[in-house]
Amino acid sequence: MPKPCAFVKPCHLVKPVSATRISGRYLTHQRSLPTLPVPPLQQTCERYLAALEPIVNAEELQRTKVLVDEFQKPGGEGERLQRALEKRAENTENWLSDWWVQVAYLDYRLPVVVHSSPGLVLPKMNFSDKHGQIQFAAKLIAGVLDFKTMIDNETLPVEYMGPKPLCMNQYYQVLSSCRIPGLNRDSIVNHARSASPPKHITVVHNCQFFVLDVYNSDGTPLTVDQLCGQLEHICNSSKQTNLEPVGILTTLDRDSWGRTYQNFIKDKTNQASVSAIQRSIFTVCLDGAMPTVTEDMYRSCAAVQMLHGGGSQWNSGNRWFDKTLQFIIGEDGTCGANYEHAPAEGPPIVALIDHVVEYTRRLELEQTSALKSSTVPQKLHFNISPEIKSDIEGAKHAMNKLAQDLEIRVVVFKHFGKNVPKTYKMSPDAFIQVALQLAFYRMYQHSCSTYESASLRIFRLGRTDTIRSASSASAEFVKAFDDVTKQNTEKVELLENAVKAHRWYTNMAISGQAIDRHLLGLKMLALQEHSPVPPIFTDKSYSKALHYILSTSQVPSKTDCVMCFGPVVPNGYGVCYNPMEDHINFAVSSFSACNETNAASFAQTVMEALLDMRTLLEQTPKAKL
Ligand code: COA
Repeated sequence: MPKPCAFVKPCHLVKPVSATRISGRYLTHQRSLPTLPVPPLQQTCERYLAALEPIVNAEELQRTKVLVDEFQKPGGEGERLQRALEKRAENTENWLSDWWVQVAYLDYRLPVVVHSSPGLVLPKMNFSDKHGQIQFAAKLIAGVLDFKTMIDNETLPVEYMGPKPLCMNQYYQVLSSCRIPGLNRDSIVNHARSASPPKHITVVHNCQFFVLDVYNSDGTPLTVDQLCGQLEHICNSSKQTNLEPVGILTTLDRDSWGRTYQNFIKDKTNQASVSAIQRSIFTVCLDGAMPTVTEDMYRSCAAVQMLHGGGSQWNSGNRWFDKTLQFIIGEDGTCGANYEHAPAEGPPIVALIDHVVEYTRRLELEQTSALKSSTVPQKLHFNISPEIKSDIEGAKHAMNKLAQDLEIRVVVFKHFGKNVPKTYKMSPDAFIQVALQLAFYRMYQHSCSTYESASLRIFRLGRTDTIRSASSASAEFVKAFDDVTKQNTEKVELLENAVKAHRWYTNMAISGQAIDRHLLGLKMLALQEHSPVPPIFTDKSYSKALHYILSTSQVPSKTDCVMCFGPVVPNGYGVCYNPMEDHINFAVSSFSACNETNAASFAQTVMEALLDMRTLLEQTPKAKL
């Protein structure tokens, strides 16, 4: 097993900007942010065609050019929709965000587990038994409450991208919130700003849920010792392991869960218990064992635990996957989180977790008060009708099938991190993305539609747009790389072009000028009018462009962790990476039902691509500084 705590780098706690509450600070900041622009129509049309070049064939591209010309012609459908979109932008805080949450998350009908909710694998912590698990959980809860104080007091420091301040809204959406399943569409509830905000968290142990009040009657948060006492009580009251794992229902596809949910909450006890989970500030999952694996598979097994719990025989029932934030702690020092994606992207979640990890580390050095908490955790009860019992069995079966199907590999690329690309004056993120393109080409001899998340948080309520990493420049580079007839100097030039093209696209995406959300906005307007959508949206090239065989995301952190998620198409890969200064953590996923994909091989090929790209730079005088 990896050395405990070896990967926790000293990092700084987030410090509040003031010791006391600053009412209105959050809104004042938000109002000062620019609104998301609507890019010019012609610019998007041109860039759309350019983005298609490496991923569609000549015939498809020709057909799409005709459709795009028709769409953007003066007085045409495109101009009309563009005007309507500009009008929407004038009358809303963010023309995109509500649509995006709806289309990308709430209307999505596959299970949130694996298909939407990311997992986060933290470094292995320094404990290996129940006592250690409880102690660590108590510190973690205290750390989250410490962060929550900054949210409640509006004293969380504003984040920046370069000189630009970022939208902080996502921090206000991740605590005390939950997804609610619906028929055809889900919804989100957020109790943080309600008249009586919740004062409890939910703890789940052996698939049994408990309400744990985390504030004393005087409003102070429970101390670590008080929390330990409460968690011990919970563990002692839930030793039985053969109860119905109601939480597994949240792994169902959303339509099935929506139907079951209506039925389930007809029972008053169930309704009250579910409501307590939904209202809670967050959930802590005290997990049972996971399968024993070799040391080199430890992180991959931890990723499985964070992403889906391993199946019904392991920890998948020890969850409420609708809950926005679930912290997961095993008995063996494994810990991490799973989060429901609709309210936020990875970076705010990781910033919160960075703070919590550092907080738990510092607490080790401090003595805390031995006061006992006056309240006792309250167990949540559920009445399981024969129909619900059968739904639970169905959920177990589907979850186990999904767990079997998902392949995930967490690998640490130890040879270099951001340092090497920086030495060659290249954007590290672009360098990694070009390596992903090279790896894919080496395995499949063509380029594919590739998604990388770009943050739109310089805009008010900004979420993400897509960086299309497969460019004509990257396609030229990957074709040339293993071509023995090409000189190294030419390859280096092509590499530099590919990296520059990627950085150019990134800059355009983070400044609200990318193509994907703009096209989505135009399509949404056409759909809202119930008029036939323009043919560019029913075109084969458009479906190809949205079939992201490579779905990728950088989620950087101070702690040496890695986020992970599933592929977004059956024949695709999910690739999440955390570039540290001298190494890179990767989590690569694929579905084993697909014969064409293999997470382990792709992870290996990516590492080889990175090394080969460095060798090329080292061996080519032009590239040397
Ligand atoms: N020469 C030398 N150094 C360079 C460089 C160059 N040409 N280009 C960049 N760098 C440096 C940067 O200054 C930065 O330095 P730091 O390590 O001191 O911070 C570092 O390299 C990283 O820059 P880069 O690799 O270019 O990436 P980025 O930090 O600009 O991130 C994105 C790019 C796309 C990941 C980021 O803009 C983004 O949008 N992130 C959010 C993604 C997201 O939401 N993911 C979650 C989805 S759930």
